[in-house]
Amino acid sequence: MDLFRHEDLLVSRFELVFDPKIARLAKTVAEDIRSVSPETEVRLHELAFPSAWDFESVFEGLSDFADRYPFDTEAEDYLVHITTGSHVMQICLFLLTESRRMPARLLQANPPHGHRGDPGSWQVIDLDLSKYDRLAKRHARESEDALSFLKSGIETRNAEFNALIARIERVALSSAAPILLTGATGTGKSRLARRIHELKAARRLVKGAFVELNCATLRGDAAMSALFGHRRGAFTGATHDRPGLLKSADGGMLFLDEIGELGLDEQAMLLHALEEKRFLPVGADREESSDFQLVAGTNRDLAAAVRDGRFREDLLSRIDLWTFRLPPLAQRREDLEPNLRYELDRFASAQGRRVSFNREAAERFVRFASSHEAHWPANFRELNAAVTRMATLAEGGRIDERGVDEEIERLRAAWSAGGAAPEGRVTALLGAGADDLDRFDRVQLEDVLDVCRTSPSLSEAGRTLFSQSRRRRASTNDADRLRKYLARFGLTWERVRAD
Ligand SMILES: Nc1ncnc2c1ncn2[C@@H]1O[C@H](COP(=O)(O)OP(=O)(O)OP(=O)(O)O)[C@@H](O)[C@H]1O
Ligand SMILES: [Mg+2]
Repeated sequence: MDLFRHEDLLVSRFELVFDPKIARLAKTVAEDIRSVSPETEVRLHELAFPSAWDFESVFEGLSDFADRYPFDTEAEDYLVHITTGSHVMQICLFLLTESRRMPARLLQANPPHGHRGDPGSWQVIDLDLSKYDRLAKRHARESEDALSFLKSGIETRNAEFNALIARIERVALSSAAPILLTGATGTGKSRLARRIHELKAARRLVKGAFVELNCATLRGDAAMSALFGHRRGAFTGATHDRPGLLKSADGGMLFLDEIGELGLDEQAMLLHALEEKRFLPVGADREESSDFQLVAGTNRDLAAAVRDGRFREDLLSRIDLWTFRLPPLAQRREDLEPNLRYELDRFASAQGRRVSFNREAAERFVRFASSHEAHWPANFRELNAAVTRMATLAEGGRIDERGVDEEIERLRAAWSAGGAAPEGRVTALLGAGADDLDRFDRVQLEDVLDVCRTSPSLSEAGRTLFSQSRRRRASTNDADRLRKYLARFGLTWERVRAD
């Protein structure tokens, strides 16, 4: 009643929801309100609850009420009086308001503490946390921390990569749907998958383990048994029951790296397990259940694998709800410096001794490493190896220019060794026609062929080659542009890849 005695809270209409068992009391309350606040219209709504403390039936009853109620947020402002009814009712009103099923703010009335006739006080609690500065800052800080965690604390500058990680953070923290990480070898798919699990575990969004499998390492029955487990005696050598990785990932995360390598039979069983959260171990009569989040990694073009009948279309559409492509290092040249620092820190903690570049050496290495000559086909795995080598060979804990030059030579040799030298490939592909090429065209074609060699797909190679101009274009048709470029030399993607 005191609520209606506040000068600063004008209630034009009061919807009183009550259990028929207390109809008389409800009518009395309505009369009292009308006498204290004649301008307040009081409407009575009978709503029977088997028990005011049974969460399910109370929530059901109030949900029905909310769904039937003609809310008009354009014309009216709604408050839900949260300090009435049983605690269960208060919780249900909170949940319905928080989920906007009741588009309202919460109203809390506090009992009078002062003199007789003191109506007490009231507060409106707005559940839109962005309205509270400190909470909004705290939320932003937590989100920053999560981003930094996913990036292993590396202060990356590449806008595309930062936007990607921000999107992954939001999806990972609000969904348990499958995630597909694509990208060339060494771009960080496995590591990111592990980090996503650690972040969710830290936020208590998963209880179970992070279970990882590289599908390329398993074939046939071994794959079936590894993934789905087996019963004792299911085949020769099956001396014990084996739970399998799906079971081990129950309540946690299953990371299937190189999922493109999974056999078609395993794909079918995986799809069933994803949809039904149940699967049949090898040699078992009854299905096992397991509720896991699948994160899959691949450096292959799964759409092409579907076209070639090597990957199930229904499985791809089941796992590519959230597909994130990790850009290669060659597309994140501005991140080389922060990653160099990170690699030196990693070396220091692994080896227990800190090594650093002298300034000229650092400039020289960054210049080379971010030049177009540096393709980094194995991405961060290679950068990690390069820094480990330079740091290991550094005298007195200092990497100098000579150490850097040696490493540059080593990388150049490795990259050209990784198949015929670029110039060799032009001749191999164009034959005598290669001799007709201007030097201008030749060096360009050599570079393009190198990118094609180290990219998993035509569109991926196109994205690397046109990484700057594509930002200025309304539509990015990287694959088409590259196809047209190769056609100028009578080449096709298939031909270049076959070479
Ligand atoms: N963003 C990153 N910054 C620095 N180092 C990274 C990053 N991502 C991965 N690495 C390092 O690079 C190496 C390769 O990473 P990872 O195994 O995650 O790559 P991947 O994409 O899974 O490769 P593959 O396709 O071969 O499985 C690891 O040593 C990892 O720690
Ligand atoms: Mg991997």
